[in-house]
Amino acid sequence: MIFEKLKPQVESIVSNTNKTVDERLSSICELLETHIEYYNWVGFYFRNGNKEELHLGPYVGEPTDHTVIPFGKGICGQVAVSNKNFVVPDVTAQDNYIACNITVKAEIVVPVFVDGKNIGQIDIDSNTPDPFTEADEHFLEFVCAQVSKLLSEIPTTL
Ligand code: SME
Repeated sequence: MIFEKLKPQVESIVSNTNKTVDERLSSICELLETHIEYYNWVGFYFRNGNKEELHLGPYVGEPTDHTVIPFGKGICGQVAVSNKNFVVPDVTAQDNYIACNITVKAEIVVPVFVDGKNIGQIDIDSNTPDPFTEADEHFLEFVCAQVSKLLSEIPTTL
């Protein structure tokens, strides 16, 4: 199973203190985009201080215009408010959706919690229709827990 193989690699990226936080987050994006064929855009959004908006962090994939997303807007903005995973099998069926690329068919967003607070999220776009299962959710929850560890160890570098 690809996820079980990737987990130790995520852990080793996170624990590499020779790299900055952003470098390590970028490496996680690269790892996932490279090894999971239906992950076509992988990125992080983080809450901007106390403002109710998300800012784009490290990502791999096509550049996006949506570098700032207000809470409540799009799939990402909804997760900032709901604190829950959001799996979208078909993006055309969503009213509150921000399109980044015409090729995208599906999306999954999983929040990152630090000290119980929703401080951001991992966002994956797929060009494959309905590709995500519970295994993706569990894997991405693992990734987000690792990211949480990384951010809580070095809070001032964000
Ligand atoms: N589709 C997202 C916007 C971010 S892009 O996927 C990179 C949304 O609806 O929030």
